[in-house]
Amino acid sequence: MLFRQLFEPLSSTYTYLLGCEETGQAVLIDPVIVAIDRDLAEIRRLGLELAYTLDTHIHADHLTAALTLKNRVASKIAAPACERLPCTDVGVEEGRAFQVGSILLQPLHTPGHTDGHFAYLLADRVFTGDALLIDGCGRTDFQNGDADTLYRSVTEKLFSLPDDVLVYPAHDYQGRHVSSIAQERKRNPRLGKERTLEEFRDIMAGLNLPYPVFIDYAVPGNRQCGVCPPDLPENLEKYCRQMTESPQG
Ligand SMILES: [Fe+2]
Repeated sequence: MLFRQLFEPLSSTYTYLLGCEETGQAVLIDPVIVAIDRDLAEIRRLGLELAYTLDTHIHADHLTAALTLKNRVASKIAAPACERLPCTDVGVEEGRAFQVGSILLQPLHTPGHTDGHFAYLLADRVFTGDALLIDGCGRTDFQNGDADTLYRSVTEKLFSLPDDVLVYPAHDYQGRHVSSIAQERKRNPRLGKERTLEEFRDIMAGLNLPYPVFIDYAVPGNRQCGVCPPDLPENLEKYCRQMTESPQG
């Protein structure tokens, strides 16, 4: 399998490019609308064709590139079935593998950051979205988020994966790239070290995070698989404008 971890600096999002060497088909997990040209150039450079985009959840901090990529290169849109988005071509569900060429992803329903959130297990790697970040986790105060639910998703489902499974998160704000299940189970300050549910609840309730600047545009836009809102204020236009440089994650 061909594999790339691509970083989008505005929202600190990691997009994952998976390529099947036999069929030449590629999947992008969590592509960002501002990084489309960079992602397509990388796909072409590797001699692949984009077959699917696959989102982990309805993002609040950036717009998915799913619909624009579909319009540009005829890729299909895969997303959690439980979100019932009319723009989705394939709804993924837990217990039903998502296969593209030789790439076999096992969807894991991991609610708590959002109620429709999925992680994707691919052999010895897991794409954890915002459920589990390196030394952290996604916030639980919007989009039907719930700390108790996230605690169960991470400690019961993700932490029950084998120790050596590599953790690839949807974001990192400090330049870290990859972790492992054992590392997070032992060291994650919010959810690891055998933290109790009560401790986790207190941590999440005490974060005092600011209101997300783009959420009121991102969520409705992402429920349409990534549509730039027409009424975007000038200071938020950068969330729809193409990235100029090509930083690699
Ligand atoms: Fe998120």
